[in-house]
Amino acid sequence: MTDGTKILMCPPHHYDVDYVINPWMEGNIHRSSRERAEEQWNKLHHVLKNHATVELVAPQPGWPDMVFAANAGLVLGQNVVLSRFLHPERQGEEPFFQAWFEAHGFTVHTLPESLPFEGAGDALLDRAGGWLWAGYGFRSELDSHPYLAEWLDVEVLSLRLVDSRFYHLDTCFCPLTDGYLMYYPPAFDAYSNRLIELRVAEEKRIVIDEVDAINFACNAVNVGQVVVMNKASDQLRQVLADRGFVVEETPLTEFLKAGGAAKCLTLKTTEPRQVSPKTSTIQSRVIHLEGHLLDSGIVNRALDTIVTGGGSFQVLSFDLGKQRQDSSMAEVKVSAPDASVMDDIMGQLIDLGAVSLPREVTAATLETVIQDGVAPDDFYVTTIYPTEVLIGDHWFKVQGQRMDGAIAVTRNPAGSAGPESGAVARCKLLRDLKAGEEVVVGSQGIHTLRKAPSLKKTDDFSFMGAGVSSERRVELVVEQIAWDLRRIRDRGGKVIVTAGPVVIHTGGSEHLKTLIRDGYVHALLGGNAIAVHDIEQSMMGTSLGMDMKRGVSVQGGHRHHLKAINTIRRYGSIANAVAAGALTSGVMYECVTNNVPFSLAGSIRDDGPLPDTKMNLIEAQADYARLIEGADLILMLSTMLHSIGVGNMTPAGVKMVCVDINPAVVTKLSDRGSVESTGVVTDVGLFLSLLVQQLAKLTGQYASVG
Ligand code: ARG
Repeated sequence: MTDGTKILMCPPHHYDVDYVINPWMEGNIHRSSRERAEEQWNKLHHVLKNHATVELVAPQPGWPDMVFAANAGLVLGQNVVLSRFLHPERQGEEPFFQAWFEAHGFTVHTLPESLPFEGAGDALLDRAGGWLWAGYGFRSELDSHPYLAEWLDVEVLSLRLVDSRFYHLDTCFCPLTDGYLMYYPPAFDAYSNRLIELRVAEEKRIVIDEVDAINFACNAVNVGQVVVMNKASDQLRQVLADRGFVVEETPLTEFLKAGGAAKCLTLKTTEPRQVSPKTSTIQSRVIHLEGHLLDSGIVNRALDTIVTGGGSFQVLSFDLGKQRQDSSMAEVKVSAPDASVMDDIMGQLIDLGAVSLPREVTAATLETVIQDGVAPDDFYVTTIYPTEVLIGDHWFKVQGQRMDGAIAVTRNPAGSAGPESGAVARCKLLRDLKAGEEVVVGSQGIHTLRKAPSLKKTDDFSFMGAGVSSERRVELVVEQIAWDLRRIRDRGGKVIVTAGPVVIHTGGSEHLKTLIRDGYVHALLGGNAIAVHDIEQSMMGTSLGMDMKRGVSVQGGHRHHLKAINTIRRYGSIANAVAAGALTSGVMYECVTNNVPFSLAGSIRDDGPLPDTKMNLIEAQADYARLIEGADLILMLSTMLHSIGVGNMTPAGVKMVCVDINPAVVTKLSDRGSVESTGVVTDVGLFLSLLVQQLAKLTGQYASVG
């Protein structure tokens, strides 16, 4: 009894495992028995003939996988989209399938040559909704999906396959009568799983386990209530029975060796024409990469980002510079199953410095803040790199660049004339956003510059590169830093030091004092502790109760710490204590007497605190940010807390030198992405002593020259 369903099959006379193009074929070359294959195929043919009309296409010598008729093409009504096989091993099947379709009155659509699509193996109609589920990730290209929507006039939902054992959609996904869906969720990425759950009600989803999945239970032929498959567990058989389906098992183990089973061996040629709108949500954009693409590894990272983000890419052009110092250019077409996936990918690409072609770019999308201190959900999160946004048809540079902020846009600020001449874009922390102001959302119309323009070639730090230097390289690095400090000072630039109490413990205070006195430090950032330890040392000769000269703890020494705090509290501030003659030496003393501003940010473990310590962290952050503005170099000395805090508010283009005995701190800072950060893993006291020596040498050189 048949219901008018027609199925196309191809006899296995030339079937064998001749090559490996999927994981099932590995180790199986020439391991299948032709005889058993014929027998199994005949049995399937026989079973199917009870439920449908089976037509045959003639097998061809030399094309062993032609037996998998599902890959001939995708049929809907009178239209066929012919397959374009990814692997050359199967491309020769195309003309034979094409001839069959044409001889049987189908309108055959052929895809552009370099656009793989493997027919009904990767595209399955939902049996209730009338839309087409289409797979990509291994064989078919995402960019083929819009063609399916267009030619077959159907809504296409793209699903990304992520497990190479399930390389075709029909190996792990099987729509059934009445809108049921039997599938194996781990074969899909998270986004695809979400999409499936949105479209198919929970009671219609039949999730199978791995054992059934690797027995190709999803690779089933469904006609009416009958489901024909290689093998089903008792449990699956029961689940299907509870929903009114009858499983008919027919062993297809010989074909499993090539990675196929019941469904692969068949193609339905009577898919009923459904009424569902022609749509595809697939989005494409062309990005433009420029720079030292190979050296920097940026191409690899960009392509990885696209694929792991759920998209696909096509490299349209790649122009390698001729000389080593030339930069290269690449144009890459990015496709994503829908706008939200595209936005995520674009956001990440922007962080990498991948730039959309200006002519392609549409203006940034702005959304109004409705609650103070809360951004719209989809707000663009800023990076350390200089950024521009397209508002109207003008690009505006974002002011106050820092990472982890939002971009707030004020249009027509007071005093501006025309509509385009007037917009100000500024990085703002979430907490500073005000209801009513507009914030950039999504990723359209945003452009970041990877390399800060302020970095002059001659200033290049590149021989150290970004990264971490070990002990052996410390002296070399110190030479570079000394040279840089010297030049920044001489041209009136700005150097910031963040320092932790370890600087004092390790005997670095002498050297830091020298740096301050000699004009190399233009602001000091730290916490309560560095100031307390420094003051204790200068008043009592101990640091946290340790005698700094002899390196042993002093009887009752721990009280020194609190006495130091108490004294400063009596005077109301460090500066007052200096003015009153109560504090006469040390790092803090040098700051006060040399007019070097300092900022002390409090924390939960602070003793006291000193009256100067800002216990309101929002104020402390603002104070740090104010002092950092315009910095050329930041020297971070053994303080994880304050260095990372400072790193977060510093734009690219500011050199950062992070010195810490703990490599984790140093790595953490260079991970934030700045190519201008240098890590030195060493004892900070030693580092400062070498630095001061080196600066003295440079001065000597200058003196002898001048
Ligand atoms: N060896 C074939 C290939 O790797 C198997 C095709 C299975 N077909 C299918 N519709 N899943 O292409």
